Amino acid sequence: MEKLIEIVQEAGKNGAAVGHFNIADLVLLKGVFEAARELKVPIIVGASEGEREFAGTQQLAAAVRSLREEFDFPIFLNADHTHSLVKALEAVKAGFDSVVFDLSTLSLEENARSTKQAVEALKSVSPSVIVEGEIGDIGSGSEIHADVPVPDRALTTPEEARQFVTETKVDVLAPAVGNSHGMRKNMVTGKDRKHLAIDRIREIKSATGVPLTLHGGSGTADEDLKRAIRAGINIVHINTEVRLAWKRGLEAGLARREDEVVPYKILPSAVAAVHDVVSARLRLFAGKN
Ligand code: G3H
Ligand code: ZN
Repeated sequence: MEKLIEIVQEAGKNGAAVGHFNIADLVLLKGVFEAARELKVPIIVGASEGEREFAGTQQLAAAVRSLREEFDFPIFLNADHTHSLVKALEAVKAGFDSVVFDLSTLSLEENARSTKQAVEALKSVSPSVIVEGEIGDIGSGSEIHADVPVPDRALTTPEEARQFVTETKVDVLAPAVGNSHGMRKNMVTGKDRKHLAIDRIREIKSATGVPLTLHGGSGTADEDLKRAIRAGINIVHINTEVRLAWKRGLEAGLARREDEVVPYKILPSAVAAVHDVVSARLRLFAGKN
């Protein structure tokens, strides 16, 4: 099977991006996996520190590995937003394919110094693991945020990006390019959408030459995502949209019959809702709509 880094690079050459969706239970994993299999596109599932705490680091690794082996399908597992080397090592030792080592709240210098050490330590345990570094402020929380005015956040500059990549030797970079984590209420209703700094993505790409990840994909305008991928984004993270679908699907499953208690009769609507959201995003990332 092709390595994740090759798949990511190949997607870039084809004007496509690999979708990354967060999971915290088997309903989410099933919905994401079914969508990817139907469309025959490689997929990354991710679990943040909180999601790993809930579902189990070893258990998530075993579940993803079993799907990859049983179906001979390119599904990969990412340790999303990992804030310490201890947690990153735990995930890599469990068999995660990649780590987002996120010290983006520190100064650029401190972030670069510790990320460089993490790259060395993680690769000494697993030479093939992909390490992604993150710079700039894109806010936190894959949640529904109040409709308050969005803070004016600085964009990552091409020079900061080049310096960080050269110093740390990360395989992949996550910059701040107008993106932000979570959705505001008016994005849930579709009244508002996120927009991206496309020229800045292009400049960062040419300054670094490495694969770029777009975090905070939920609620982003389709056209901006398409243009961002053409400008150099190779991986797109979506979480809040999937969490919202999971919740709505679960509510629909519970509402169908008041006295239903059988999980495998209630949960398929949650799987279907997750599947539909993931499928639409994957089509867009693959240039299929
Ligand atoms: O790492 C996860 C994401 O960046 C997802 O962000 O919740 O805005 O889709 P989102
Ligand atoms: Zn993120």
